[in-house]
This record gives sequence, structure tokens and C-alpha cells, in this order.
Amino acid sequence: MINERELIQEALEARKSSHSPYSHFAVGAALLCSDGQVIRGTNVENASFGGTICAERSAFLAAISMGKRDFLAVAIVGAPHGDRIDKICAPCGICRQFMSEFCGPDFKIVLYDGEGPVLRTLGELLPDTFLLKGDE
Ligand code: THU
Repeated sequence: MINERELIQEALEARKSSHSPYSHFAVGAALLCSDGQVIRGTNVENASFGGTICAERSAFLAAISMGKRDFLAVAIVGAPHGDRIDKICAPCGICRQFMSEFCGPDFKIVLYDGEGPVLRTLGELLPDTFLLKGDE
């Protein structure tokens, strides 16, 4: 199974595909599925700003569209265009809620500060998650 540094490398590759002409902030994500497959995502902005999709959600949308439902970890990297990454890019609130639809509190979120992995869990980033579906 891929390790955290390799997952970050995948997210860095995904970041190169970012469509972010409005914010000039490029984000990459790499989602590790329980079958070992890694699905990449990037942020895709729109002239109607509310139509923008974050990198994490685009990775999840691709994976879910392929029939995947079980996920182990996601790596997320982000920085302004042209900048060297030197701080973590934590997932936005909408992405935290989105991930909680498919992932439990132990789901690993691998961030990157430019030097190495910074590890979080979904439970740490979104305690007391709102769910309609009970304990499934
Ligand atoms: N962005 C992400 O892709 N993921 C996040 O969790 C935070 C924000 C993107 C959205 C937008 O294209 C740009 O970063 C600036 O907000």
C-alpha cells in the first residue's frame, strides 16, 4: 500500500492540472481507496465563483463515479500559483462535511507543509459530525 509521502507526491502531480484563474491558488488531492487505487483531483474554478469545485471533492466525485465507496486517506496540497508550498492547506468546511458522507472519524487526512506529512483525522477536523443516516 502506498505510503503518506507517495500520496503527497500524487497530490502534487494533481495540483499541476488545477484550473484556478480567479484565485490563483492551486490545490491537488490524492484519494487512497481501500482497494489500493489512488484517484487524483484538483480544484476547478468557474467564472460564476460558486460553481467552483475543490480538489478534494473532485477526487471524491471521480472515485464515487467509478463505484468506489471505501476510502483510507486523502492527501491535500495547496499554495498560490508559482509559490513553493510552505504551509498546510487544510480542507474547507464544505469538503469536511462532504467527506463525512463517505468516511468515518478515523479517515486519514494527509497535509503537507513543504517538508513532510502533517497528519490529521476527519474526526479531529470535524467533530460532532452532522449525519442523517445514523451509524452506518
Ligand atoms: N480549495 C480547494 O481546492 N480545497 C480546499 O479545501 C480549500 C479551497 C480551492 C477552491 C478555490 O479554487 C481555491 O482553493 C481558493 O479558495
